[in-house]
Amino acid sequence: MSNLFTPFTLKSITLRNRIAVPPMCQYSAVDGLTNDWHQAHYASIARGGPGLVIVEATAVAPEGRISPGCLGLWNDAQAAGLARIAASIKAGGAVAGIQLAHAGRKASANKPWEGDDHIPAGDVRGWDIIAPSALAYGKHLPKVPQAMSLEDIARVKADFAAAAQRALDAGFEWLELHFAHGYLAQSFFSVAANQRQDAYGGNLQNRSRFILETLAAVRAVWPEHLPLTARFGVVEFDGRDEQTLKEAITLTKAMREGGLDLLNVSVGFSTPDANIPWGSAFLAPYAERVRREAGLPVASSWGIDDPHVAERVVADGQMDLVMVGRAFLANPHYAYHAALALKKERPSWTLPAPYAHWLERYQR
Ligand SMILES: Cc1cc2nc3c(=O)[nH]c(=O)nc-3n(C[C@H](O)[C@H](O)[C@H](O)COP(=O)(O)O)c2cc1C
Repeated sequence: MSNLFTPFTLKSITLRNRIAVPPMCQYSAVDGLTNDWHQAHYASIARGGPGLVIVEATAVAPEGRISPGCLGLWNDAQAAGLARIAASIKAGGAVAGIQLAHAGRKASANKPWEGDDHIPAGDVRGWDIIAPSALAYGKHLPKVPQAMSLEDIARVKADFAAAAQRALDAGFEWLELHFAHGYLAQSFFSVAANQRQDAYGGNLQNRSRFILETLAAVRAVWPEHLPLTARFGVVEFDGRDEQTLKEAITLTKAMREGGLDLLNVSVGFSTPDANIPWGSAFLAPYAERVRREAGLPVASSWGIDDPHVAERVVADGQMDLVMVGRAFLANPHYAYHAALALKKERPSWTLPAPYAHWLERYQR
């Protein structure tokens, strides 16, 4: 009996298995709008058998986009396009999730394959960026952000809530708040990025305030019966790892009390000088510790593409869901191939009937 292919229920939502596709920016939007690329991309991976597909980082405000090609959800036209994406994910048999994001000081960048660096000052494609403090990330992202005023903070929290309402209206049933990867929310938590002297900086309680208030603003509009989740970097690999992890677990407990249903455990990416120990499932021990000490279901990703490793991290109780990213870009029917590798009973039925029927006796 495979653990990976056991259904997973969170609130009123049941995923058909423990495989989720994490948010992956496509850098293919104009004015934050979806188009045929997104439509085909999300439909194809949803048909490939995962329980959950989370739509890429979708900005809650124009200045929160990582690049000019990022999706947005600050207007109704964007919501209409995303409603079609949610419908096609559901038609593939997966639950439709979306990640709401604000990129903070990492915003206004070129696409990865066009440099991945900040768009230079004076270039009309770029825009002014905001962050907790006027401190640049550094290296390829040298632009100095404007330190946010209290009005800016209130506005961005309201932007998250408004985007969550639009996501709900668009048919999404799983919400992930992007509090990770050195973007705006993670920057408030990070001592490297946040040097504020007011109630949003300094001690752990103050550095947690933006995240907890944003969660509360979203919780007020997102229905209780649907999963409300967040992605957060619990470790930076910057030499302060045990302290960061302990603080992250304290924050996760507070998020749980604030209505969070699951944490997608990730890396902080708050500094370009981190020494990250890339390797197969290298975050699994961190995910397990958050799961155990914070008492919350967890998901995680990074190098869990071997189906046997995915099976093991679920069987060992290290995570409730396995996020598989690039392996789905390489093979949109990843889940079917994982089912074959794990010798699941009737693996073809990981796929929808119009494919599964023909593959029943043709298992390759
Ligand atoms: C093309 C691409 C885009 C990504 N975009 C996002 C994103 O929008 N939000 C996010 O939280 N992580 C993003 N990530 C990170 C992935 O969600 C995932 O954590 C990462 O690919 C590691 O998992 P993997 O080893 O299975 O690919 C992106 C990764 C890739 C490859």
